[in-house]
Amino acid sequence: MRSFSSSITKLHYLNGINSQRSSLIISSRIPYLSQNRCRYKSTLSSRYDASINRRNNTKKPTTKEEIAREKYEEMLKSPYRIVRWGAFVRSDSFSKKLTKYLIVLYIIFLVNGVQYMKKMYSKEKELERLIKKRDEEGGCNEFELLRIKELNGKLRTRDVLKLKEYRRLQEEENVSNLDGIVLDNNDENKLNEMILPARDTTEFYEHKAEEYDKSISFEERMIGMGKRRKWLMKHCHGDVLEVSSGTGRNIKYINPEKISSITFLDSSEKMMEITVEKFKKRFPWYKKVAFVVGKAENLLNLAGQKMIDDDIKKVNDIQPEQPDVKVKYDTIIETFGLCSHEDPVKALNNFSKLLKPGGRVILLEHGRGEYDFINKILDKRSEKRLKTWGCRWNLDLGEILDDSELEIVEEKRSHLGTTWCIVAKHKGDSKKKEEIGFLEKYFSSAVKNKIEAASTSVPVNDKN
Ligand SMILES: C[S@@+](CC[C@H](N)C(=O)[O-])C[C@H]1O[C@@H](n2cnc3c(N)ncnc32)[C@H](O)[C@@H]1O
Repeated sequence: MRSFSSSITKLHYLNGINSQRSSLIISSRIPYLSQNRCRYKSTLSSRYDASINRRNNTKKPTTKEEIAREKYEEMLKSPYRIVRWGAFVRSDSFSKKLTKYLIVLYIIFLVNGVQYMKKMYSKEKELERLIKKRDEEGGCNEFELLRIKELNGKLRTRDVLKLKEYRRLQEEENVSNLDGIVLDNNDENKLNEMILPARDTTEFYEHKAEEYDKSISFEERMIGMGKRRKWLMKHCHGDVLEVSSGTGRNIKYINPEKISSITFLDSSEKMMEITVEKFKKRFPWYKKVAFVVGKAENLLNLAGQKMIDDDIKKVNDIQPEQPDVKVKYDTIIETFGLCSHEDPVKALNNFSKLLKPGGRVILLEHGRGEYDFINKILDKRSEKRLKTWGCRWNLDLGEILDDSELEIVEEKRSHLGTTWCIVAKHKGDSKKKEEIGFLEKYFSSAVKNKIEAASTSVPVNDKN
């Protein structure tokens, strides 16, 4: 017994010497290994030594398979989890289980897909039912109208608050019939005291005109506004009206081949004079242009007159009760104008009345953002902004658009949601094929019907 245990001790001793020797040889050849060994000494060195011992006691791997096997075993023992995982996914047992894993994943994917499609289908049915009720069966209550907006994915902050209250009524107070219930509007534009009251800014821009371009150019270049102006002007075709044209900063993006005529409108004569100068310099040969000084709120007066010639005209401020609208437009554009109007909703309603069938209003505006922190900054500096730029930059433009007679076709926001790119149409006008998104096109039968109806009826301007 004694001699047996001493022989074991001897063996350990010999192995210890061997391991020391071999590690010395290795570490002298690969200095990196010696450093590494020190770092992991406490946990790894014994394992490392053991592996070297084992190697010394067995014959060296010679065939490719043996080398690969040894490498694999080493990887499995690696201190790095990622190396161990790498070895595991290369193992035979994993390959065998892989088929099972894939089948499980496929089933999960299928179940979720079916559930998603079911949800889409029931939403689609609900939307169809509510639209039918609204348009053909005598109208919807306020909750149902909000639900239509929600299903279309276009809720404003005030809508979210109202829906929450309606759901509270249903769930907590068991109100099942919401007909006749109309809740107060939590209009940000009216309730937020940091959104300053609207005012006539004509005088302000009369004084600002001369320095306007110089002072705004740097800010616009820094935030890439040129790209957005280009986007807006790409939509211009046929008879075009630019409202709040200012100093004509969009003129350089006009493609005269796509337009039949263009009318510029601004309430400030001084701003308009700069537009006239820029336009005549760039397109001296273009004759179907009109420059009009007047307010967007009085636009219907303008539409009663024949405008096309290149003298500055003035539109009077008195709006007839039933204006005789003779001129209509294919495209009405406005950049950074709504924030300086006295009555932006009225201006938008005028745009809607002046659109030809199939015509579009294209807006590039600034207003409230999509995050609280940015809105707080806008609110805090609203007075300063009004003093230096004459505009209310913290307006909730969504509310203004929703209150108007226009309907949004496309709404893209950038700069934390403070820059609004909007394409809008006359309410009740059909969407064009290219304006319908992928999901809408393939999943919404209500919309499909609308397209079919649109493609069978020829718009009036196409007949001309
Ligand atoms: C911030 S500037 C924008 C100018 C130009 N659209 C641009 O993108 O640089 C606002 C312009 O709106 C004009 N404006 C303000 N109130 C208006 C109104 N009620 N009707 C028409 N123009 C108005 C001002 O005279 C000014 O030229």
